Amino acid sequence: RTRIFSGVQPTGHLTLGNYLGAMRRWAAEDQHRADALFCVVDLHALTVEHDPARVRRLSRQAATLLLASGLDPEICTVFVQSQVDEHLRLSYLMECTASDGEMRRMIQYKEKAAAVQARGGSVRLSLLTYPALMAADILAYGTHEVPVGDDQAQHVELTRDLAVRFNQRYGATFVVPKAVHPPVAARVKDLQEPTSKMGKSHARSAGVVYVLDEPEAVRKKVMRAVTDSEPDVSYEPEPRPGVANLLEVLAACAGGEPRRLAEEYDSCGALKKDVAEAVVETLRPVRERHAELAADPGCVDAVLRAGAERARGLARPRVDAAFEAVGLRPMR
Ligand code: TYM
Repeated sequence: RTRIFSGVQPTGHLTLGNYLGAMRRWAAEDQHRADALFCVVDLHALTVEHDPARVRRLSRQAATLLLASGLDPEICTVFVQSQVDEHLRLSYLMECTASDGEMRRMIQYKEKAAAVQARGGSVRLSLLTYPALMAADILAYGTHEVPVGDDQAQHVELTRDLAVRFNQRYGATFVVPKAVHPPVAARVKDLQEPTSKMGKSHARSAGVVYVLDEPEAVRKKVMRAVTDSEPDVSYEPEPRPGVANLLEVLAACAGGEPRRLAEEYDSCGALKKDVAEAVVETLRPVRERHAELAADPGCVDAVLRAGAERARGLARPRVDAAFEAVGLRPMR
């Protein structure tokens, strides 16, 4: 059976980008067509300055949102990364497989490192080795497919390289995975800065729609989205990134195809109104279900405990095999 693995970082409140680019399809499709694991990657959240209590809170919230978005623990596995030691064990072997140069070439590293330095902070070594941990997440489970937004394509590509290299050096141990991206909204842009991705750790949140935003807040953010000075509506991502982003979000939320949808509007105002309503309606059931689930945190914790136990059982034999393959003494 196809094995799917994906994850989300608890570094901030989850956004419309996370939802449209990843979570929505995990629930609607992936969990039904494969043996799927979904992970709140809390170890990854430690690669930048963090407040312990906040990370703990956001981990539970992210897990609750995964369930609220429709992941069914009866048919898929939902868990928290730090509760399964195998990720850390394998991460070290991935650090021994990857080169310094290939880590430094990662776009996410360059961007995040630059942002940390611009604030006068120091870059954690774990920010550089981040993709080794991510490769471990994926490879520990014999994953075939990794459903992610576009921004993670480079990391999954590196994971493939590491799997191939490890297998060549030490014998067939890992499945070589591939990334799968959604047909629209694979990269939702910031509404205020439509050339950059909508991200959960942006300092300014005016351009970021959060999954748990109240409808009024969603409407306000969408209505204030930056477009351009052209009076009409057309789908041209290069010269008109703001309008194109709105059309993509509309297509993702209400169906249709961005280029076609553009023909139905003659003003950005009318387009924004429909985008706002489409986003509100898309997020409404998730927000409502989240409120119900959040009222019973014990239930979420029980799901995570069971998920971690299953994940451990799946990862253990392959990680043990990898340890032996590189020349470490057998565990048993
Ligand atoms: P993270 O937490 O940044 O994002 C979670 C998922 O949401 C997607 N995404 C977006 N999609 C479209 N538009 C956007 N603006 C947008 N922002 C985020 C991401 O592509 C991702 O699919 N490194 C990963 C977490 C991770 C992981 C893994 C993923 C760790 N280990 C193993 C897959 C497999 C990350 O930072 O995702």
